[in-house]
Amino acid sequence: MLSYVRPVIGLRDLFVLWKMRYKLARQSLTKLEKLFDGHIYVSKHERHVLYHILRDLSWSGKTILVPDFTCPSITEAINRSGNKTITYRIKKPFNIDERSFREGLGKNPDAVLASHVYGHPMPVRELVLEHFGDDQNKPLLISDLAHAKSIEPLDDRAEGYNVVLYSLAYYKPMPFPDLGVGVLRKSYPVRDSNNELDDSVVRTLIELIVFYGREIVLQSPILKLLYQIAPPKVGGSYWSVPPSRVLSSNVACLEHVIERSQLDFRWQFSYYDQLLAGIPQIHPLTIDRRLATYYPVTVEPRHRNQIHEFCLKRNIYLGRIFSYIIPDAHGIDRYSDWLADSVLNFPIGSHVTVKDMERVGRVLQKYFVIAEKYNENKH
Ligand SMILES: Cc1ncc(COP(=O)(O)O)c(C=O)c1O
Repeated sequence: MLSYVRPVIGLRDLFVLWKMRYKLARQSLTKLEKLFDGHIYVSKHERHVLYHILRDLSWSGKTILVPDFTCPSITEAINRSGNKTITYRIKKPFNIDERSFREGLGKNPDAVLASHVYGHPMPVRELVLEHFGDDQNKPLLISDLAHAKSIEPLDDRAEGYNVVLYSLAYYKPMPFPDLGVGVLRKSYPVRDSNNELDDSVVRTLIELIVFYGREIVLQSPILKLLYQIAPPKVGGSYWSVPPSRVLSSNVACLEHVIERSQLDFRWQFSYYDQLLAGIPQIHPLTIDRRLATYYPVTVEPRHRNQIHEFCLKRNIYLGRIFSYIIPDAHGIDRYSDWLADSVLNFPIGSHVTVKDMERVGRVLQKYFVIAEKYNENKH
């Protein structure tokens, strides 16, 4: 099974994961703290990190301006922390709708969140500075780098933001432990030791078993079976795991993770471009290819789920990130709504070979040949 999501772990990773040493984890956090000159937060997921940061800032009843095309878990974290969201629109070919953004700023939000979806740098910081100038009361700037390829303080998408968030969840196409990481710049005083590390042997073992279990499922036809028995739910709550203590083994591999995440997917993006050039029904989305961790394309909404099923039957698992969007982002004239019904993400990453990519191209070609024949027969 070729899957767009796959935690890639080898023997070396097992060794690092097994180093469940509290001291090592603390060292990793101290290094990150110096690197970013900020308080470092770790939690099970990025959403929990955001929740903890807002709670530590003692925020309640505040308004946060968020894009209408991002992971709904972000809005859920904001709501659960006792705060609320308003949205700004994303427009074609994947950028901020500046009019809607300025309208949002006009409502004087307490914070503005940039979600650099597909690694696409969104000029949120620039637009906020342009609007507020030197005003001391300008909103807090949050950068959601869940789709970032690496953890870098000098990254354009991190610099100048008061809060920076990373998701190292297994469903990102990189070799990661399950972890959310956040930075709150030092100018904000917070309680000490917000990171509760757990070096329980039993939990670490369970985590390892889950890790390998997922590997097996994602690579085998079990995935197809699971999909048939219980197709993933769209909508509902994204607060799947309570904000919990983090395994020190996961934190201890942070450095190793950072080093491994310096991957370059550009050759894969270009190769897909070539393969798809002969399929006019598929349109690659404009993204920053240096930074992106996904290869998103759009197809007509009537084809999207059918292609997904067609590929799954042929052992190719494509992503639909994001087919579920935040609740108030729906509307006939909304690009986010259309995108959510049209997007597909192709498998990329170190586990994807040239042969795999060619197979994806052939299967998609076959889909459209069949779809066209079906259409001809109907008329
Ligand atoms: C753009 C974006 N932001 C935030 C998140 C939340 O990250 P996590 O799953 O680690 O909570 C995700 C999750 O996929 C995401 O894609």
